[in-house]
Amino acid sequence: MRRGLAGRLRRLRVAAIPAVLVFLASCASHAPQDSLKAHGPVARKEDNLFVAVFIVAALVFFLVEFLLFASVFKHRHRPGRPDPIQVHGNTKLELGWTVVPALLLVGVAFPTIFTIFDLAKEPTKNVLPVEVYGHMWWWEYRYPTLGISTANEMHIPTKTPVRLSLRTIEPGLPAAKGEDFAAGVIHSFWVPPLAGKQDVVPGRVNKLTIQADEPGDYPGQCAEYCNLSHANMRLRVVAQTQNDFQAWVVQQAKPVVVPGGGDAAAGYKLFTGRGTCIGCHTMQGVQGATARVGPNLTHLMGREKFAGDTFDINPENLNRWIHNPSKMKPMRPEQGTGMPDLVDTGPHLTDTEINQLVAFLTTLK
Ligand code: CUA
Repeated sequence: MRRGLAGRLRRLRVAAIPAVLVFLASCASHAPQDSLKAHGPVARKEDNLFVAVFIVAALVFFLVEFLLFASVFKHRHRPGRPDPIQVHGNTKLELGWTVVPALLLVGVAFPTIFTIFDLAKEPTKNVLPVEVYGHMWWWEYRYPTLGISTANEMHIPTKTPVRLSLRTIEPGLPAAKGEDFAAGVIHSFWVPPLAGKQDVVPGRVNKLTIQADEPGDYPGQCAEYCNLSHANMRLRVVAQTQNDFQAWVVQQAKPVVVPGGGDAAAGYKLFTGRGTCIGCHTMQGVQGATARVGPNLTHLMGREKFAGDTFDINPENLNRWIHNPSKMKPMRPEQGTGMPDLVDTGPHLTDTEINQLVAFLTTLK
């Protein structure tokens, strides 16, 4: 008997551990992907709706629990007490607990519907359009009005509505008849401090507005399971003042600076020739180097991380990456998704050649 009780207690304690951990996680001070800390008007509208609904739900919860416990306590069995009076149904009470929740739901529905329509509204003044493409497993951003493109780290000016058109494509796979690119899989674009999630769905162009109040780094990630490297499909929105953003745009629009000599020049020759890199990557200023299978690398060093905002951009990591990309990040290049192995297959790059390629890549400011 006693043993059974001890076992049950132990099991209860084990079951409580995850609950305690989840509770403690809410105390984290460094939580950059916190959707409860809005950094722009879109996220703020969503947060306001959440808080309003949460307050109503919490009041209902405490009221119901209070009535439940009060009733149990009041009518508990005590020695000498006769059986309680047996009743069947109570029309007034039943009407009450049907009508009051219905009214509460109507009350919650109004702000919800208004917020949904408000968020779906196309901003009209001073809008920056950005085309977002979900690839397996990184994000491509194209700025149609500025003629530039980049990967994983999206720069935006502050206090400006940025209208995103979200598509999923997989240029490494064969396209269907009449299509420019093969449709990819479903992703979800999510930058919690700036806006809620928006699914990125094959065959559709979904829209989302984001806007940042202040300059800053706002991390996000793909929020829809998209196969092998879903967890490595991170992203970042870098919000800048108008001046900083303009300077960034000017830099991004520049063509590649061809290195004059040394390892970097040899790397440039490899990149545009035997190395087959331009088969997948854009290099502005190089004729025909406009492929979109992998990220535009013209200004690689202007970004902090690569491979879906996962690894720091430095010579060591780039070297490791070219040696064996799938070892750093799970990918299936043999099926057209991800960076291929250029050492054991394709051009069979040597260590010297990889060093030359890295020397060139690190000149790409
Ligand atoms: Cu893309 Cu998950």
